[in-house]
Parts: sequence; structure tokens; C-alpha cells
Amino acid sequence: MSQFTAAFRLRNQVEELPLAACTTMRVGGPATVLRFDDLDDLAELLGAAPRWLGKGANLLVGPDGVAEPVARLGPAFAHCSIEPDRDGGARVQVGAAHDIGRLVATCVKAGLAGPECLAGVPGTVGGALCMNAGTAHGWTFDFVERVQVVLPGDRRPVWLPRDEVPAVYRASGLPPGTLFLAAVLHLPAGDAAELKKLSSEWRRAKAASQPLTERSAGCIFKNPDPAQPAGRLLDECGCKGLRVGDAEVSRVHANFIVNRGAADAEQVCSLIVQLRRRVYESRGVDLALEVQAWACPPSVHEPMKGDGPA
Ligand code: EPU
Repeated sequence: MSQFTAAFRLRNQVEELPLAACTTMRVGGPATVLRFDDLDDLAELLGAAPRWLGKGANLLVGPDGVAEPVARLGPAFAHCSIEPDRDGGARVQVGAAHDIGRLVATCVKAGLAGPECLAGVPGTVGGALCMNAGTAHGWTFDFVERVQVVLPGDRRPVWLPRDEVPAVYRASGLPPGTLFLAAVLHLPAGDAAELKKLSSEWRRAKAASQPLTERSAGCIFKNPDPAQPAGRLLDECGCKGLRVGDAEVSRVHANFIVNRGAADAEQVCSLIVQLRRRVYESRGVDLALEVQAWACPPSVHEPMKGDGPA
């Protein structure tokens, strides 16, 4: 905490917290956590080399927590405004702290097509930009026109047009440590009733096939390719119900680990390694993490060694 001035600490609500309290999986050790709400404090914050946190919906934190301060964007970055264009569509400017579900609801109601593909995805717009969050119906960068970011090593925000963001499946493609502040979405006109129907259907389908009411970090692994979804591979390898302590592979969807009560980060990481080994040994596929892993043992992501299937 001492790396910040007293004035900074006061303005930015700096506190010591277990990161378990800041993630949907509810595991992870301590850190200095702050709420960043004023760009005038950016230089001091960047001097402390922070990590950026949204709603922690796609994050696994190791048992010892992290040494760097962890910054969450405050209400000053939760804005959302719509500017209609001549064709019935609009540009939506949205801050990184805005909730994804609220953005989807706003656009659906306004008859603006695109974000409905994210119906049911938890988290902040900043998290969605960082991860290029998506579903089978589309990804975040499908409808982003430009993003406002602070690139690692820079001290000021810049706007990058979409074609300078090398987004791919589940990654913005920008360097690790990039801070996302806002985005402008360019959305065509759609039929509000039809968008509402679609988004409700997709939300319902997600709730029926994923353990959304339990504590998890969403899908643990990336799909190695669209024809080989990680959930199906894990299911076929008999992983549903595998358990280390209170960390359990969901019986609803095998690519989710759920915290059944008092799971800790060590249990979750140990289960992840078991799952990777099982799929590697029986199918020869080295599953890569989809969740962001902070200060977790290297075994959760280093390449699998040893024999694949005989
Ligand atoms: N499957 C199984 N067993 C399972 C889980 C899935 O056999 O336990 C089969 C399903 O029956 C289906 C196929 O695997 O035939 C794909 O499953 P699903 O439709 O559930 O989609 P997914 O590829 O597992 C992806 C995203 C999800 C997103 C859904 C819905 C990834 C890693 N996951 O899941 O995103 O919600 O599509 O669009 O790309 C996330 O990113 O955290 C996430 C949950």
C-alpha cells in the first residue's frame, strides 16, 4: 500500500483484500485492491505497474495472491451513450466498467444489432474487450469500431481503430497489460422485438447447458478447434464430477470447474492439471487455459510432457 501517496489512497479507495472476494470463482489470495476513477491519477497508478480487474468473471488467482496492486475501474468509466446515424443504426460509446448485461439490454431495447450475441455473458465491457468475449453467435470485436486503451509503457490513452486491434478467438491481440477504457460500437439497425427474442433464447440455452447459478470462472479451457470443443473432450474422457476438495468438474458442462463451497486456489489448480493430463494422455490434445490465471503454478499452463495416447 505504501507505494501510493496518501491523497491517491483516499481518492481511489485503496484496501487490502482477498482476491477471492473479487472473483466469481471465489478463490485466490490477497492483494492491494483499488477503485480507479480519475484519469488525473493515471501516472501514479501506472508507476505501480498494476493489474486490471473487471468483475473477475474469467479469472483464477493463485493461493498467494499477487504483489502488484489490482485496479478496478469506477463509475467514471461506466458511461454509455447512443448517437443515432442516418441509416437507423448508431454508434454506442461505452465505458470499460459498464456491465455487459446492461449493454446488451440497452442495445436490444434500442433496436441495435450485434451485442445480443453476448446475452448471458457475465462481466464488464473492459473484460469483454480484453478477452474478445463471445458465444457461438458472435464475438465482441465483431461490432467494435474503435477502442480507447493505455498500452503498456504508455502514459496516456489512445484510440485505436478496429483494424489496429489484432483480435482473435478469446483475445484482443493487444499486449498483456493493456488497459481498456472505452469502446465505440458501430451497430446496424435491427428489429427490437426480434433481438429481444433471440437474446432471451440464447440466455435460456446458456442457462440450460452451463452451471450459471454456481460459483465458477466460466469455461476453463479454450476450444482447441470448433470441431473439438473442450467440454465434449473432457466429458468423453470421463471428467464430469472429478473433484479435488471442494473444486469439482461440473456435471452440467465439463469445461466448468465449480466451487462447491470452500474450494481454494490450490484445489482448483490441481484439478486443472489433472484434467489437462487426462485429455492429453487419452486424446493427445494439450488443452490451453481460457481463464486468465494470475500467480498460478506453471503446471496449469506449461506444455504437457510425456506420452500422448498409445
Ligand atoms: N458438450 C458435451 N459435454 C459437455 C459440454 C459440452 O458433450 O459437458 C458438447 C455439447 O453437447 C456441444 C459441444 O460440446 O455439442 C459444444 O458445447 P457448447 O455448445 O456448450 O459450447 P462450448 O464450445 O462448450 C462455447 C464457449 C462458451 C459459450 C458457449 C455458447 C468456449 C471455450 N466456450 O462453449 O463460452 O458460452 O460456446 O455459445 O469457447 C466462456 O468463454 O467462458 C464460455 C462459457
